[in-house]
Amino acid sequence: MPIFGTRPEAVKMAPLVNLLKSRPEQFDCTVCVTAQHREMLDQVLEAFGVVPDYDLNIMQSRQSLTQVTTRALEGLEKVLLEAKPDLVLAQGDTTTVLAAALAAAYHKTAFGHVEAGLRTDSKFDPFPEEINRRLTGRLTDLHFAPTPLARQNLLDEGIDANSIYLTGNTVIDALQQVTGERAKASADGKRMILVTTHRRENLGEPLEGIAHALHDIVEAFPDTRIVLPMHKNPLVREPLKRILGNHDRVELIEPPDYMDFVKLMEGAHLVLTDSGGVQEEAPALGLPVLVLRRTTERPEGVTAGTAKLVGTDRADIVREASLLLGDQNAYNAMSHAANPYGDGKAGERIAQAILHWAGQADRPAEFGV
Ligand code: UD1
Repeated sequence: MPIFGTRPEAVKMAPLVNLLKSRPEQFDCTVCVTAQHREMLDQVLEAFGVVPDYDLNIMQSRQSLTQVTTRALEGLEKVLLEAKPDLVLAQGDTTTVLAAALAAAYHKTAFGHVEAGLRTDSKFDPFPEEINRRLTGRLTDLHFAPTPLARQNLLDEGIDANSIYLTGNTVIDALQQVTGERAKASADGKRMILVTTHRRENLGEPLEGIAHALHDIVEAFPDTRIVLPMHKNPLVREPLKRILGNHDRVELIEPPDYMDFVKLMEGAHLVLTDSGGVQEEAPALGLPVLVLRRTTERPEGVTAGTAKLVGTDRADIVREASLLLGDQNAYNAMSHAANPYGDGKAGERIAQAILHWAGQADRPAEFGV
């Protein structure tokens, strides 16, 4: 039983769900969504043709972490009692994931964690994701680590090596299913800067700094335009609209569906983001990324040279973006394709790992080996 609730979990679970469903002789796959997100989740379900068997529909406006956790946990109790899965799967580090792991543990049901082992060294950064993934790791029976570093993080925490499978990240499976031709130049000849920002720890003052920095950048470079798909959270939308809403080269748009978002990435010159998934997708597309955070659990893109951590300070963001927009050599150095996160076969490896755990297949070959 895959359980997920937000847009990025749906993107990363969809390739695995569709693969498990395509093999009914091996897997009886029942999908449960908490719907911690609503519209943004439904867009992805539709794009990948995933129809949930259970939908807890928990989302409320301006929901607190406690509300998300308790509503998910209560809803999942009923679902697990009824469906009695042999294995629960969840992906990543949202509050839905922690609730799924805990619900499975309360029912003494095995739990498999997709994208296991990502860590920063700061309990509250990102918040609450770092807490969610650390706790989930303690409750996990099958760890699907996307990269060698993620596996090492788990080993460093004393996790049994036999319970860890090095699979690659399913985000690259999803990306490969929808990518087409990379269309670099945008319609009006202006270089497009794609921006996404939504993180809880960036709400308030950091987000204001980001918005002012974007204004400075687009003013300094008249041959650029900014496209910013706005998260549905009203706390994200208000400052963005106030600071950037009236600029003629800034487009604040509704969240596009996944296909359209990938098209935007394909046409972009530069990405500024605080998202985790975008940090993984952009290197695969050879797209330089400036990460609007102080820490990242995804240093592989930084090591590969396609991502840079710039934080949320206005002057820092303007300086780093200006360097890339003004100096072709600096840009070229960051714009090569790299695939540290996956090869498009993570879903396959996870499926085989599940069979291995059930004693029905050999251990899958490792990603990158
Ligand atoms: C959640 C995850 C975060 C993940 C992010 C991806 C937690 C605590 N956070 O953060 O790890 O990176 O999803 O987007 O699990 N809303 C809507 N419609 C939607 C979705 C959200 O209106 O389709 C609004 C609701 O008012 C909601 C608010 O956005 O209260 C915030 O959503 P929530 O899931 O609580 O947190 P995110 O910031 O989206």
